[in-house]
Amino acid sequence: MLEGKIVLLGISGGIAAYKSAELARLLVKEGCTVQVVMTEAACEFISPLTFKTLTGRPVYCSLFEKSHSSATAHIDLAREPHLALIAPATANIIGKIRAGIADDLLSTVLMAMDRGRSPVIFSPSMNSTMFSSPAVRDNIKVLRQRGYLVVEPGEGFLACGEVGEGRMVEPPQLVTYLKSIIAREEGDYTGLTVLVTAGPTREPLDPVRYFGNLSSGKMGYALARAASERGARVILISGPTALDPPEKVHLSLVSSAREMYHAVMEEYPNVDIVIKTAAVADYRPEECFPEKVKKGKEIEVKLVRNPDILKELGLNKKGQFLVGFAAETEDLLDNANKKMKEKNLDMVVANDLGVEGAGFATDTNVVHVLYRDGFVEEFPIMDKYQLSHLILDRIISLRSS
Ligand code: C5P
Repeated sequence: MLEGKIVLLGISGGIAAYKSAELARLLVKEGCTVQVVMTEAACEFISPLTFKTLTGRPVYCSLFEKSHSSATAHIDLAREPHLALIAPATANIIGKIRAGIADDLLSTVLMAMDRGRSPVIFSPSMNSTMFSSPAVRDNIKVLRQRGYLVVEPGEGFLACGEVGEGRMVEPPQLVTYLKSIIAREEGDYTGLTVLVTAGPTREPLDPVRYFGNLSSGKMGYALARAASERGARVILISGPTALDPPEKVHLSLVSSAREMYHAVMEEYPNVDIVIKTAAVADYRPEECFPEKVKKGKEIEVKLVRNPDILKELGLNKKGQFLVGFAAETEDLLDNANKKMKEKNLDMVVANDLGVEGAGFATDTNVVHVLYRDGFVEEFPIMDKYQLSHLILDRIISLRSS
């Protein structure tokens, strides 16, 4: 997948620069052309000669090098790569790109890159207090909003002696990540139909009142957008939300669980993957009063069960890949596991509603992903769009395995 790709490997001045030698070697082994650009500080940690030897190419460190073939070397370097990876990415380079400062070769090349064509990925590495500082957090947030990709660093022993978040992600994991980015860019969902359900359902009590829930639809809309960007034909069946539908997605608006049930069942035979993020009401009032219920004496409302759409899909599975969501307030993993078995699912994305940054109306989520073989993967807090791509990465690799 990486074979023949041109990767710009940007190295800024952190002790993790020593890991980048391994990274360069792995990328070359994958068949990439690796063009290294180093900051002046990076050259204090590791010699450009190491990278020149590993990549078989000149290594550039300065805007005004004699070896540049033209006066616009920074533009040439920015034009060629299929993607850029900055590893390690220090607080300094992250801050510069956020602020638009281009005062050395690496920052200038990164500013000149057309990210619509070539993704730019930062792999931060720094002391944990620096990493959690408001400035770095804010810079990373803004970079992500602008479409840059920022890999979450790992936790562990840091060179400064502290233990915490800030370790550069290990080179083999970065290579795997780059492969998934290339797969996304090349449209790895082309030819597949993905059905996503999103949002809450409304269970009417009378013409103006309903039972509902707090689901915003953000997770489902983010998944629909990400799948569509990766080439899938996407059918989004959505309960009422305040969101604009993603471009190129076929939107079907429903209100109650029963409407959602019919819409999903109609599409089901013709789809490859179903992702059910919708918070479907388990119960509905048995009776919907034909007129607005007047204030008066107490009334009793009997609630009856709604169809369990996902369970029905699981029972009638004919090769479709089924992903359920589980939002729980207690016994998260046990309940999610039960759901996987009861509903015959291939994957469950479980979010603990008690955790900050997880759940309904937020832009972020904190999830565990459960697989059929019992493996559980824990993801750090991340925005729902970024998480969508990771979920789609897992689905596509399971489908093809
Ligand atoms: O059992 P629970 O409602 O927690 O399961 C959550 C998963 O099942 C979600 O993926 C949700 O969309 C789906 N579901 C459904 N039909 C229901 C209830 C939930 O498809 N009636």
